[in-house]
Amino acid sequence: MSRNALLATINELVEFSSVAIPVRFDGEVARVSPLVPSTIGELTIPRVLEVPWCTQQGLTSAIGSFAVVRSFGNCNVTFISTGKGTVSLDDWRLFAAAAVKGAGKTSVAFLLDIDDITNFRSVAQSLGEGALLSSYRYKVADAIDTVFAVVPLSSTLPPVAVHDDLEVGLRDGVVVADAVNWAKCLIDTPAGYLPPKEFAKIAESRLEFDAHVRVNVWNEGKIKDERLGGLLGVSQGSEEPPRLIYATYDPRPKDKLPHVVLVGKGVTFDSGGLSLKSGEGMMTMKTDMTGAAVVLSVLSAASRLNIPVKVTAITPVTENLPSGTATKPGDVLTIRNNMTIEVLNTDAEGRLILADGLSLAVEAKPDAIIDVATLTGAQAVALGDEIGALFSTSNELAEDLLKASGESGEAFCRLPLFDAYESHIESDVADMKNIGKPGKAGSISAALILRRFVGDENWAHLDIAGPGRSDAARGYRTKGATAFGARTILSYLTDLASSASVD
Ligand code: BES
Ligand code: MN
Ligand code: ZN
Repeated sequence: MSRNALLATINELVEFSSVAIPVRFDGEVARVSPLVPSTIGELTIPRVLEVPWCTQQGLTSAIGSFAVVRSFGNCNVTFISTGKGTVSLDDWRLFAAAAVKGAGKTSVAFLLDIDDITNFRSVAQSLGEGALLSSYRYKVADAIDTVFAVVPLSSTLPPVAVHDDLEVGLRDGVVVADAVNWAKCLIDTPAGYLPPKEFAKIAESRLEFDAHVRVNVWNEGKIKDERLGGLLGVSQGSEEPPRLIYATYDPRPKDKLPHVVLVGKGVTFDSGGLSLKSGEGMMTMKTDMTGAAVVLSVLSAASRLNIPVKVTAITPVTENLPSGTATKPGDVLTIRNNMTIEVLNTDAEGRLILADGLSLAVEAKPDAIIDVATLTGAQAVALGDEIGALFSTSNELAEDLLKASGESGEAFCRLPLFDAYESHIESDVADMKNIGKPGKAGSISAALILRRFVGDENWAHLDIAGPGRSDAARGYRTKGATAFGARTILSYLTDLASSASVD
């Protein structure tokens, strides 16, 4: 897993198939750090590059633009732009993605002037993330065997601690990206290959080897015994039985670590049910289990990173299909916590299964609950495909998540749980109906439905219908599944561990 992340020295550079050199645009010229060796193999590395030459090569002040200068033997030297000003963590992810693109080979060394940075560990982690995330291709996610190395350059002999930080950071970055790529692979898998029981099997087969993790998969009988009426209602149109994955990571059961419960929407295919979607609307609906894949990948990475926080992941998993046995518009479902929902549109199914998941989350009495779901088309209309919607009952939790979002480079925007819109979900026959007013604040009415199931808990809801998949590759984001939200939650958990100072 972290076999492909390491530190290397200048003497080893020629062994790499690609060497990535940062270039900073500074007025009329582009500069290479004076610490970069003046020759690599037979190639002389200039300190200053003429901007017209750079422009001609496609190397501009746009961060991540690059020029492959020359290959000698087996090795490419790639100049990569770090722009004009300060370099953020997300810029380092873009840098690493450019290096991978420029390399097209099997091992990449990043030359890093460490006199220029202070946050060694996070920078190295970002390099690992950007490199491995951008290397993802559906089907070959497990086979990424590229070696990524950081080569630290310094004018003084850097303390051992700096080397340790770089090494740990790079290794953590690879662990994070490996978990995210695993989620992306599940999400990209065709629904025909991934009915709920298969999804649960794959999740179990990864998590059962992660340290301090216990996984329980509930079958249909157990789901009935536990009265998960939302999940049963959505699944009843399908021949495939539902599952619920209940996984816990608790590295120190005696210490009462902060406890976060994650709930993920796991609809392995959303046809809309009897309120059938259009052909076009269904085309991407194999990705409707993104929330489930995201929270399970977070739990796995939390274990592999050894984060001192207790994490529980709860994912209801089902298909949403029409048939003679399907839930009909007008039917009423009774959720785990005994609240009732009138189903007026069977395509608003995510909230029905999340209602059960959130009810279970509350019973665990955690410090915070976060759910992740490709919940509403309205979310994509409001914020497009690069920004997720964040709703929260707690200003503190919302701020913590927005801070984490800044670190991860996954953009989130907070939307209101607007009390007056409660009127949109009132039902004549049940505690609520499952849809709001047509064409009006659809993401908010969905969030208000979910809020009914979390009581007074610290709760955040991430609606990632838009950014959950991308139509095109950009930077370190690959086309298709993005597993959006996973790295934000991981950052949040890491921050939570350090603020609770449970080391
Ligand atoms: N899974 C969809 C939401 C979705 C749409 C995700 C597009 C990603 C891309 C969800 O189950 C759904 O169908 N929501 C309906 C709700 C409506 C019927 C109230 C929607 O948004 O149209
Ligand atoms: Mn739907
Ligand atoms: Zn759905």
